[in-house]
Amino acid sequence: MDGVFGLTPDEVAGVLRTAALAPSLHNTQPWRFRVAHDRIELHADPDRALPATDPEGRELRLSCGAALFNLRLALRARGIRPLVTLLPGTDAPGALAVVRWGGHRDADEEARVLVGAVPKRRSNRKPFHDVPVPAAHRYALVRAAQLERSWLHAVVDRDERARLRNLVTRAHRIQSQDPRVRAELASWTGPRTTDGVPPASGGVRPAPQDEWALRDFHAAERPPGKDYESDPLVVVLCSFQEGPLGELQAGQALQRVLLTGTTLGLSASFMSQAIEVPQVRHDLRRSLGGMVVPQAVLRVGFGSPVPPSPRRDVTDLLLAPAATRS
Ligand SMILES: Cc1cc2nc3c(=O)[nH]c(=O)nc-3n(C[C@H](O)[C@H](O)[C@H](O)COP(=O)(O)O)c2cc1C
Repeated sequence: MDGVFGLTPDEVAGVLRTAALAPSLHNTQPWRFRVAHDRIELHADPDRALPATDPEGRELRLSCGAALFNLRLALRARGIRPLVTLLPGTDAPGALAVVRWGGHRDADEEARVLVGAVPKRRSNRKPFHDVPVPAAHRYALVRAAQLERSWLHAVVDRDERARLRNLVTRAHRIQSQDPRVRAELASWTGPRTTDGVPPASGGVRPAPQDEWALRDFHAAERPPGKDYESDPLVVVLCSFQEGPLGELQAGQALQRVLLTGTTLGLSASFMSQAIEVPQVRHDLRRSLGGMVVPQAVLRVGFGSPVPPSPRRDVTDLLLAPAATRS
C-alpha cells in the first residue's frame, strides 16, 4: 500500500482499519478504498450487496457513509484536515466519495474522543438495563445527527411508539415470509460465517413476549425470564433528501450518533425492517410528516458488554490504482 497525505503505508493501513470498524448491514462490510498519491477514494463493493434485503443499495451506502465518517475521524486524529467530495463523478469514476488533503490541523479534542470510541462501539442486541436514557444524552444524539446534515427523531410519545412498533412488527412478518430475504440473513449469520454476524454477537433468541421485533441471528438460547428493557429510547435517523447523497450524509450521521452514544456509555441496536420493506417505509415516512426520509431505526439504552464482530483484513479492501487520468 502507498502512503498518502504524508502518512506512511502503515499509518494509512491504520486509518483504513478504523474506517472498516463501521457498522454495516449483516456485517457485509461493503466498502473498498483506492489509495492514490493525493487522495483516498471510497467505493462500494458490489460483491457484498444484498439485493433482496436492500434492493436499491440504500443501506449499502449508509454503511459506506459510516465508514467515511470513521475515515474522516482517523485523519483528523492524525492532524489531517480531510476535504471530502461526495459522489465526485468523473473526477473519480464510480467512487462514493473522495477524501483529499485539506491542510494540517492539530487533532482536536472531539476527534480524539470520538476516534477512541470507534473500537468500543458495537451493535448490542441484548436486553438493556431498565434505566431510562437521560434527556441530555438524547439531545447530544440529536445534535450529532444535525452536525452531519441529518435529523434524528426521538420517538418519545407513547402513541407514536405504539405505531412504530406495529410498523416494525408488520415489516418483520413480511420479511420472515420472503425466502430471498431469509436466505440472505442465513448466509451472513450463524457459526459458518467468517465475517457476517457470529452467534456471539446475535443477542438473544427472539421470544413471543418481545415488544420490538428484532432479527433472529441464531444466538444462544435465551436464559429463562430474560426479557427486554421496558422503555428503550427509540430513534429514527432521517436524511433531508432521497437518493445517494442523502444516504451518504445519513450514514455519516449514523456513525456520529453511535459514537457519541458510545462516549456517553450508551449501547444501540438496529431495527431496519420497517425501512427495508417499501410499503412500510412509505407509511413510516408519512407518520413522520413526509418531509424527512427515514434511513435507520435504532433502539438505544444502557447495555452490558458484547464481543466485537469480525472484520476483513485491510489488504482485502484495497482497489488497484486507477489508470492515469489525463
Ligand atoms: C444500515 C444498517 C442496517 C442494519 N440493520 C440491522 C438490523 O436490522 N438488525 C440488527 O440486529 N443489526 C442491524 N445492523 C447492524 C449490523 O448487523 C452490524 O453493524 C454488523 O453486524 C457489525 O457489527 P458491529 O455493529 O457490532 O460492528 C445494521 C447496520 C447497518 C449499518
